Amino acid sequence: MRAYYSHAGITIYHGDCREVLLGLDPVDLVLTDPPYELVAAGGGLGKKRRYEQSLAGLTDGFDIGLLKPFSNWICFCAKAQLVDLISLASDCGRWMLLTWNKPDPTPLMNGNYLPDTEYIVHRFEKLYGGYKDRSRFTVMVGGEKVFHPTGKPLLLITKLMRAGSEEGQVVLDPFMGSGTTLRAAKDLGRRAIGIEIEEKYCEIAAKRLSQESMFQATSTGPSVTPPAYVAPTPRTPKPKMGDFINSQLASGKSVDEAVAEWRKL
Ligand SMILES: C[S@@+](CC[C@H](N)C(=O)[O-])C[C@H]1O[C@@H](n2cnc3c(N)ncnc32)[C@H](O)[C@@H]1O
Repeated sequence: MRAYYSHAGITIYHGDCREVLLGLDPVDLVLTDPPYELVAAGGGLGKKRRYEQSLAGLTDGFDIGLLKPFSNWICFCAKAQLVDLISLASDCGRWMLLTWNKPDPTPLMNGNYLPDTEYIVHRFEKLYGGYKDRSRFTVMVGGEKVFHPTGKPLLLITKLMRAGSEEGQVVLDPFMGSGTTLRAAKDLGRRAIGIEIEEKYCEIAAKRLSQESMFQATSTGPSVTPPAYVAPTPRTPKPKMGDFINSQLASGKSVDEAVAEWRKL
């Protein structure tokens, strides 16, 4: 598939991740913030309000099975998806439930708890960084400019990426939005692949990538100094995920067995 943007180890594909993913080479970390629905009753005027993240291209919401072939993933999720996501993460391997704590949330005025916490599940085999990268994630919502209606703060994504990967590794965001994950990858010396179904966000992400460092230490979290890029150590080439799974299925293996074989590579 032709890339929408490709420069210095960072690639953007404009398309549906369910198709693009099948043709990708293996990655070291999936760090993503998929679309999900948040329905809020109430509101300042007592009306029923409905907030929807972009669900373009997804008829039945985010399918968590999409993460199954990956052994190292960090995924934002709605409260309703938490049980399924933790169940997937704890299937085998190690996992942690992380929270993004917002000192400045916008109250929904619906008699519910203040929406000052978002949930993030990390499934991993190995952790990176130090405790300062893996301690409480407290980041202001309004602390920095965002480029998407549900854009995440760069500082938050940066911290997650340091906990889940090291320099030179490849990070994938299949629901890239405005490219916050890719921007963090560039600043931290990772290679990265982003997939986005809406072209306008591919364009915004490409513009963000063409700018110099985006670090804005305006949150209560630690400031981060982007390290110099270090060329990755060459690795034994792995087959493409789609090809490998198909060949396993053709040899009579079940989907779960094929995925298990893929993880061993
Ligand atoms: C929650 S937003 C990500 C925002 C991002 N974290 C940021 O900071 O800008 C999810 C994105 O997934 C995109 N999306 C939805 N379905 C998709 C699909 N099937 N393939 C690729 N992208 C998709 C939406 O257009 C949306 O921009």
